[in-house]
Amino acid sequence: DHEFWQRPMAERERAFALLRAKGKPVFYEEPDVSYIEKGPGYHAIVKHVDLLEISRNPEIFCSGRGGATNIEDMPAELAEYFGSMINMDDPRHARLRRIVSRAFTPRMIKQFEAGVEIAAARIVDDLLEAGPGVDFVPHVAARLPVKIICDMMGIPASEYGFVYDRSNIVLGGFDPEFGLTDEGAMVAKLLTAGRELQQLVQGLAVKRIENPTDDLISALVNANVDGERLTNQEIGSFFILLVVAGNETTRNAISYGLRLLTLHPDQRRLWLRDLQEHAPGAVEEIVRLASPVNYMRRKLTRDYELNGTRYREGEKVVLFYWSANRDEAAFDEPQRFDITRRPNPHVGFGGPGPHFCLGAHLARREISVMFRELLTRVPHIEAGEPEQLFSSFINGIKHMECRF
Ligand code: HEM
Repeated sequence: DHEFWQRPMAERERAFALLRAKGKPVFYEEPDVSYIEKGPGYHAIVKHVDLLEISRNPEIFCSGRGGATNIEDMPAELAEYFGSMINMDDPRHARLRRIVSRAFTPRMIKQFEAGVEIAAARIVDDLLEAGPGVDFVPHVAARLPVKIICDMMGIPASEYGFVYDRSNIVLGGFDPEFGLTDEGAMVAKLLTAGRELQQLVQGLAVKRIENPTDDLISALVNANVDGERLTNQEIGSFFILLVVAGNETTRNAISYGLRLLTLHPDQRRLWLRDLQEHAPGAVEEIVRLASPVNYMRRKLTRDYELNGTRYREGEKVVLFYWSANRDEAAFDEPQRFDITRRPNPHVGFGGPGPHFCLGAHLARREISVMFRELLTRVPHIEAGEPEQLFSSFINGIKHMECRF
């Protein structure tokens, strides 16, 4: 329900606290709510402990029948663009993930740290030149993640704007700002955006077959999985997953980060006292409370009982990261923004399992570098009221004025 996520934060927190207090996951009987989301319903997994156990058992709670998108019920023309590894199970999932996973290890990310720093510095130069009152989302939060994922992929700078626009359509929910006024418009726009992103990668792939480089498009076109090359369709959907996941999520963590610092000046003062020392804790706490991905889903491969609840083969479970990250059984005073919280076992990047966010190290570096630059050069920057994206899947901020 996209509208639920538009409600004030306190109201959403109360609703999930009530669900957590019930003890057992609630089963929502749901008719076919949309072209993509088919009934008959789902178990709402709202507690940290349940979410961890489900994530740890992918052979029972699988992604292959719908992890990020409900791939099993999706019309074939859409599945062509969105049938990527996030909607697959091992061993195929693991083989595909291995093609790109090396590029996302902390060691590799360290190698282009200088590039991230230069890009963040330029973003803050532009912000200072533009002056206060600008929209923080497109001017600051969105820019670093788009640039970095495009550079890693091998997408030229001239296409950053194109990638940003098309990713907004793919993950924009039903937001009218992106023209998604109704289901028909949404499907048409999704198909066009998918086709256009696939055309972009195909144009670049032709060049990489002739002249491979060390970018991720070269890795995809030259990959050998079980003795075979990836098909154009597989390369296209992999590409869409990486560019969309790489820029729609971190952007929201950066925007929420500024909002949290504005609402909690004591935590800003603390962070400013030692930018280096507090950065890792602050980044984890921002991701916990931002929870840019509200949920993922899994489907049961067989009947199973977990923590007193019976699940049946074929049923859906929806893992609400947003709720688990506020679970009072896992976090002391979960509503409190505390950059020194230790331990911080949040599930903002997913639970422990094969689908744990591939880009987690990258996202952490981007958030950390962006705030180091902002807090050094614009230490008193503040966020205005955020304008929430109309989406149930992405906890997104579309616009947010900043003052400094
Ligand atoms: C998967 C969150 C940044 C790429 C995921 C999952 C979550 C998540 C919740 C699903 C885990 C599951 O199903 O168990 C986030 C958040 C981010 C972020 C909150 C930023 C703050 C990134 C970045 C990339 C990325 C920068 C770069 C490409 C992916 C990919 C997957 C994924 C490819 C699928 C992994 C798989 O199926 O094996 N992310 N993500 N993410 N993320 Fe991220």
